[in-house]
Amino acid sequence: MAEPVAVIDESGEPNPYLMGVYAPVQDEITAENLTVIGEIPRDLNGVYLRNGPNARFPAGGRYHWFDGDGMVHAVHFEDGRARYRNRYVRTRAFEAESAAGRSLWTGVMENPKDNPFGNTRGLNLKDSANTDVIFHRGRILTTWYLCGAPYGMDPLSLETLGAETFLDTLTGDFMAHPKLDERTGELFWFDYGPRRPYLRYGVVGAGGRVEHCVELDLPGARLPHDMAITAGHAILMDLPLYQDMDAARQGRYKLTFNRELPSRFGIIPRRGQAHEIRWFEARPCYIYHVVNAWEEGDEIVMDVCRVSRPAPAGSGSPLARMISYLKLDARMHRYRFDLRTGRTREESVDPDHNTEFPSIDARLTGQRSRYAYNVSVKDAATNLFDGLVRYDNVTGAKETYSYGEHRYGSEAPFAPRDGATAEDDGYLVSFVTDEREGTSEVQVLHAADLSAGPVARIVLPRRVPLGFHATWVRADQLKGGAR
Ligand SMILES: [Fe+2]
Repeated sequence: MAEPVAVIDESGEPNPYLMGVYAPVQDEITAENLTVIGEIPRDLNGVYLRNGPNARFPAGGRYHWFDGDGMVHAVHFEDGRARYRNRYVRTRAFEAESAAGRSLWTGVMENPKDNPFGNTRGLNLKDSANTDVIFHRGRILTTWYLCGAPYGMDPLSLETLGAETFLDTLTGDFMAHPKLDERTGELFWFDYGPRRPYLRYGVVGAGGRVEHCVELDLPGARLPHDMAITAGHAILMDLPLYQDMDAARQGRYKLTFNRELPSRFGIIPRRGQAHEIRWFEARPCYIYHVVNAWEEGDEIVMDVCRVSRPAPAGSGSPLARMISYLKLDARMHRYRFDLRTGRTREESVDPDHNTEFPSIDARLTGQRSRYAYNVSVKDAATNLFDGLVRYDNVTGAKETYSYGEHRYGSEAPFAPRDGATAEDDGYLVSFVTDEREGTSEVQVLHAADLSAGPVARIVLPRRVPLGFHATWVRADQLKGGAR
């Protein structure tokens, strides 16, 4: 077992993202026969998987929350029982550092010029595969927000299966949040980088090969985080928060929000060529995550968690600036792009509540969906998810659920009940970590009735650090095996 990572990195200041509920764990365990408070529903069968940063070695230089090595925590639900397991994503960089017995890479807050290698786009940072986890063709893919190799893992054993190449058809890198259309089996993705082409958009076909890939022209290097699909289109983003390239040339990482520029949304037919993209303008903002998008007549509707002020004012140490930039402050927001007139309409859905990490019934990705399940972001210096919010976009109703004092959750994907036919007929599943006790559990809630509280709380043998994205893989998806 490795030594615990120090909470004070080379900046000399205590780094809150290495402490308490964020502190990395040092071991990989498998646990069965877990204590359950309440009862695990027999019609909840599948795996809850969550990725996140878990620094194995003390950081080379200052540590940013996004730098940690990817670790997946999983809970397998089967016939009313649950098993827990956690494993590192064994990326090339992870293996290189494990062989060296120390960190070889610096993170995003340091000059990366001496790092051993980076991604294929010339970004010389450690591809940690720590950001999202999705299910695709019998395996899970772990992805990285700055674009890297999607690393395959077995959804049950969490054995790393290596970098996914899509049958040797993937050239370049892969973003964090590709979109799967379960009806067609297609996987939509983009990659971006500091050099031309700044953005590429592609489609992995149902047979598992990259069948479509186009280079898209942008005014400069951008930092798109997510995308959307509809039945006929993909939606890509050119948002006015991006890296200051003068600072980048000096080896410094500095983000600038250009509030005089519009947000631009590029709508392209699913298998469209570069010249077919149409750009729609809207008020400046940043967007981490899309809820869903779909087509309504001549319009495309897209719901997002919108950040209106992505660059907080104020100064301070690099660590203090990092913490303030990291803090999520987003509101549910709806865009309507009129394909006939080229106009955009936008409206706030919930101006009051800071919510993020949205999930929907994933089978409805790209089709009209009624419900969204977001995490509630606590008013605190660091990112803490203190509850869940369920949005009904037909009635406008909102239901909230709080984990209680000093208890923080993860992204909570929707897990349909076995045999469910209606949207909302299922559960939400989340890790919940108690800050004072240093313990974690899994909570299962009825998606349609959050206020009733958890139907099951599964006590875990260890604390699960707060992390990034999660997914639910249904039992019927697991049955197919890896292809
Ligand atoms: Fe994300």
